Amino acid sequence: MEDQAEQLRELMRAKNNNTQTTTPAKDKQSRKTRIITVASGKGGVGKTNVSVNMALAYARLGKKVIVMDADLGLANVNVMLNMIPKYNLYHVIRKQKTMKDILIDTEYGIQIVAGASGFSKIANLSEDERQNFINELYTLSNADIIIIDTSAGVSNNVLSFVAAADDAVIVTTPEPTAITDAYGIIKIIATEIDNLNMGLKLVVNRVKTVAEAKKVADRMINIAGQFLNLKVDYLGFIYDDPAVPQAVLRQKPFMVLDPKSKASLCVQHIVGRMEKTEIRQDGGLGNLIRRLFNRE
Ligand SMILES: Nc1ncnc2c1ncn2[C@@H]1O[C@H](COP(=O)(O)OP(=O)(O)OP(=O)(O)O)[C@@H](O)[C@H]1O
Ligand SMILES: [Mg+2]
Repeated sequence: MEDQAEQLRELMRAKNNNTQTTTPAKDKQSRKTRIITVASGKGGVGKTNVSVNMALAYARLGKKVIVMDADLGLANVNVMLNMIPKYNLYHVIRKQKTMKDILIDTEYGIQIVAGASGFSKIANLSEDERQNFINELYTLSNADIIIIDTSAGVSNNVLSFVAAADDAVIVTTPEPTAITDAYGIIKIIATEIDNLNMGLKLVVNRVKTVAEAKKVADRMINIAGQFLNLKVDYLGFIYDDPAVPQAVLRQKPFMVLDPKSKASLCVQHIVGRMEKTEIRQDGGLGNLIRRLFNRE
């Protein structure tokens, strides 16, 4: 396992060096792939909508974005975009396809990696499958941003993707059950992940007012600080907006169908805030791969 990680670090170093010799100095910073994992305690709080629409907001800023559907049980990014991919992560893991083969262009200027069905944990993969997946993930390092949409709740799989991210975006709604479960996942992240130094960020979805969102965020941030000694940043909120279910029904992102909607403006604001926060030094794709495959 260590050998694999070391091999990969070597690869990343080689790649970075390569990039530096061929890239003007001012572009170096933008060459790094920022990984944003979107997670929640409770299901159905808006992770997939946040992932896909954040991706679109990033694309509008000229970024090369990939949304990876890391729900290996029930894939749904492709459903939200009305795409029926022929191949998905299953085929990559089974070595039938490469990541490049399954990376799909969408009509919206972003690319997606469709999720697999039938796997519950990456940890269950054989050594051989793991190695293959590592090599394949590495090929995504051309992207500026990889947004990983996860399944609800805590599994080893989700924790791995959170541990690996530069930023973990926890989505909740103002419902007491969603807040409790969001606190639950934050607590597990705090206790299970060593050297947690990524930005943990909170998005409050489906709010009626700015004040309601602020109240939820303040509560969560205070509790996380007080009981877990964990810094959680309030990234922003998204209004409860009929434009969202309308877009879901039509299988198009609301950022495309209704770019002036309240929800779209909120997502743009969220991405604007993300852009103002620094990506940490040891983050990025190399870190994802190292940490992802060092977890049991
Ligand atoms: N801001 C919003 N305003 C109104 N409705 C919303 C909003 N966000 C999400 N919804 C509704 O919630 C539904 C679930 O959203 P989504 O599929 O993004 O959640 P999820 O967290 O990815 O769910 P799962 O845990 O099943 O993967 C949407 O289909 C939509 O109807
Ligand atoms: Mg989802």
